[in-house]
Amino acid sequence: MCGIVAYIGSKVARPILLEGLKRLEYRGYDSAGIAIIQNGHLSVQKKIGRVANLEAAIEGKPGFDGSLGLCHTRWATHGGVTDFNAHPHTDDRHGIALVHNGIIENYSALKTYLQERGHTFNSQTDTEVLAMLIGELYEGDLEKAVQGALREVTGAYAIAVICEKEPDVLVCARKGSPLLVGIGSENEYVVASDGAAIIAHTARAIHLDDYNVVKITREGFRTTDIHNTALSPKVQQLELELEQIELGGFQHFMLKEIFEQPKSVRACLGGRMDMREGRVVLGGLAAFAKDLTKAKRVILTAQGTALHAAMIGRYMLEDLAKITCTTEYASEFRYRNPVIEENTIVVAVSQSGETADTLAALHEAKERGALALGVVNVVGSSIARETDAGVYLRVGPEIGVASTKAFIGQVTVLSLISMHIARKRFMSADQCLDMMREMEAIPAKIERILEQSQRIKRITEKYVERENWLFLGRGYNYPTALEGALKLKEISYIHAEGMPAAEMKHGPIALINEGLPAVFIANKGRQYEKVMSNIQEVRSRGGHVIAVATEGDTEINKHAQDVMYIPEVCEPLSPMLAVVPLQLMAYYAAVARGHDVDKPRNLAKSVTVE
Ligand code: M6R
Repeated sequence: MCGIVAYIGSKVARPILLEGLKRLEYRGYDSAGIAIIQNGHLSVQKKIGRVANLEAAIEGKPGFDGSLGLCHTRWATHGGVTDFNAHPHTDDRHGIALVHNGIIENYSALKTYLQERGHTFNSQTDTEVLAMLIGELYEGDLEKAVQGALREVTGAYAIAVICEKEPDVLVCARKGSPLLVGIGSENEYVVASDGAAIIAHTARAIHLDDYNVVKITREGFRTTDIHNTALSPKVQQLELELEQIELGGFQHFMLKEIFEQPKSVRACLGGRMDMREGRVVLGGLAAFAKDLTKAKRVILTAQGTALHAAMIGRYMLEDLAKITCTTEYASEFRYRNPVIEENTIVVAVSQSGETADTLAALHEAKERGALALGVVNVVGSSIARETDAGVYLRVGPEIGVASTKAFIGQVTVLSLISMHIARKRFMSADQCLDMMREMEAIPAKIERILEQSQRIKRITEKYVERENWLFLGRGYNYPTALEGALKLKEISYIHAEGMPAAEMKHGPIALINEGLPAVFIANKGRQYEKVMSNIQEVRSRGGHVIAVATEGDTEINKHAQDVMYIPEVCEPLSPMLAVVPLQLMAYYAAVARGHDVDKPRNLAKSVTVE
């Protein structure tokens, strides 16, 4: 995904745009660019690399002090990481500049058409085609030209457009990619891909809907669809505090977010457990109580970390609520012609609520008649809006590209949903109460693990030069092993494989050589003895075992070279504790290897392309 910020008002736009862009940098950081109209003249600067490079490039440069402008931070899809391919893109006739998040799918046919009409292209991007098309249709009215162009394109877009010939007009539009219009108090507007770039200026904003086009001047704004029918969007209050999107003394957002997890779980549980009645209260699902009771099958669909949380949710739904449940990569579900029988619930799990694959799977599920629920963090996101009902994570904005507190939030919500459904079916009030007490105790237990962070750092640093790691777990902690491996891979660029501990001897055991770090989730539980046997299999082949074990387990020291302890906890909730040392290990490994933890190479916070 990419990040967009645009400004129109009475202030100098540049610092507002750059500050907003830095807050959106987690959305993509291959290149950045800015376009400003000053005294009726358009100035554009683009630079590969971080926003700081762009800032340095325009420092003191004339032409960048106007009060209308737009900027962009890019995660490359079409066309390599070059200055030419960076946004904004311009047309070749009218001084139009455009920034875009999304993909124009029919760009190739449009490009041929535009080339035949004499337009010359400078980049390999799909976005430049849209800028040229708007230019081709421009007859003195930017809003009209944008509407006309958008009627011709297929794909996804959030765009902001300005034109030298209309130096007091900003036009923005959305389909499939998020865009918010922040309404300031002094005739100023800040448009951005998310609230993080707006909240410093105003908390009043409009979430644009698909096919909305908004024309903004300093005097006001009007919203239409792409056919110019007037619309009246609702102004909403952004639920975001500035401190939530600042580092607050931490070196990286990832570390801040790991340490926020006790607070995240408390926020997620708040008001959702009725300890007097022994039941879970989920307001978002209230209207669908009957559907939950008679559900025959649940399909949890997601990508990446969210899928790992979903896998834990699956175990819980089967274990506690006794419902047939499967998990599936949203990208596979979407294209494999899935069978959806009556009384099937499809749950889309997503931090951002914008992941294109998950959104597409959701559309498919709805098309086939399933009840579609969302387990989403970002309020008002596409998935949150398109599901029939859902439960928000309430963990606050997650900015580190490596997902941590959202994972904990997803597992918390899926536990609550499992208990909620279980209580409608087989679970007694007392059983539910016991489980809720366990849930309540989780935040303090995570705090105990976080107190060991320096010890976990020392253990990690012993192995940080090794290029191959294994993560092994069983039962509820098989998905935790997958998550530990993913965290290590994505920020430290170490090759890591997660798998069920028992699967190792069916092939991956061949990878074990002298000193290979094998991280075992070996907490006390039904499969403890079996995990011990798997540990022996690694040890006898020269591997180094790092175990996540239950406090008070002294036996484990005989088997593992290093041990990271977690407090005792019931098995279904054990991933919420076991994952924390693994998150810290990944973090400290990446720092030790000198990587930019919050902006790992090739990644972006959410993947809005299929
Ligand atoms: O926003 P989503 O939860 O839908 O994102 C899904 C994955 O892209 C995401 O979890 C990704 O795997 C993270 N980078 C993992 O840390």
